[in-house]
Amino acid sequence: MSKQVRSLIDKLDRDKTLSKAEWVTVFDNWDEDDRAYAAGLAREISQSVFGNKIYIRGIVEFSNVCKNDCLYCGIRRSNTNAQRYRLTDEEILHCCDEGYEYGFRTFVLQSGEDYAVYTPERMAGIVRSIKAAHPDCAVTLSLGELERDALALLREAGADRYLLRHETADKEHYQKLHPAGMSFEHRMNCLHDLKDLGYQTGAGIMVGSPYQTGECLAEDMLFFAEFRPEMIGIGPFLPHKDTPFRDMPKGSCELTLLLLSLCRIMLPDLLLPATTALGTIRPDGREQGVLHGANVIMPNLSPSAVRKKYLLYDNKICTEDSTGECRFCLQNRMKSIGYEIEITRGDHR
Ligand code: 5AD
Ligand code: FES
Repeated sequence: MSKQVRSLIDKLDRDKTLSKAEWVTVFDNWDEDDRAYAAGLAREISQSVFGNKIYIRGIVEFSNVCKNDCLYCGIRRSNTNAQRYRLTDEEILHCCDEGYEYGFRTFVLQSGEDYAVYTPERMAGIVRSIKAAHPDCAVTLSLGELERDALALLREAGADRYLLRHETADKEHYQKLHPAGMSFEHRMNCLHDLKDLGYQTGAGIMVGSPYQTGECLAEDMLFFAEFRPEMIGIGPFLPHKDTPFRDMPKGSCELTLLLLSLCRIMLPDLLLPATTALGTIRPDGREQGVLHGANVIMPNLSPSAVRKKYLLYDNKICTEDSTGECRFCLQNRMKSIGYEIEITRGDHR
């Protein structure tokens, strides 16, 4: 065990902050004992805030059409092999109704940037319908970089939360992951708009994305400390065969787990999912995520017919399973490590 890293983890636990140089030291020197040490602290913290309860959110992936061309993403515009689909409003509502029966009290509407077809007005109508059918539920949106007036309209329609991973807090790194037309500043402005409009806001990163360094991760931790997102989504980068990053190495499962623990230690009441990508890189990845401080799981509510088409990376799990199968699979997985699924909205406190 690196004594230096361990004392920095203790310092983070005490002060809830580290300097950039200290973060770089952690990311350049950590070992497996340090990860286990951080996991122990993170688990104690999540147990004291949430007990052994895990929140679930059901994701409806309603369109895989995207006007963007992010270099890492399987549904990027240039991928002509992707079979594109769009769900109707009725299909989206039906997924939520089915999810409700299975105990979901948060619905996450996620898609590519398909704004020409799913206009802000149409999305607002869908949000209103879900809220009318299920007034006891939270609606989370994950639609990419909408403009402020559209975000305001959706907030007025009843949307509670918004997920928009910043991907990296290092501008130069951001430019290596995205085409020239996309801007780091626009994404960061969008995140600030979301907070400002009263959304519970989620940021996040891929661990081991191409060209990521310890310094990039240090910037990400400083960004989290300053922005204080209510949620942080962290999963390993996984290559997709039809993208420019097809031959890039996948991210490290262990480093992903360490980052989950560090986020939990830094922001004790954070909503922190054990992501699908983590469950893909390792069969017990989501259980390990929970054991490293995660307190949220986000399975899919999408219809079986389209599940195999929403592929951001290769080998995604649960594409052959139904809403009910995932629901009970997760219940058993959580039970096997001593946790229970809670049937609530699971808001940030
Ligand atoms: N590997 C892992 N995560 C990915 N995402 C997109 N493509 C990949 C990939 N190849 C993540 C991004 C995005 C979220 C919806 O999925 O972080 O914000
Ligand atoms: Fe989907 Fe296990 S969670 S099959």
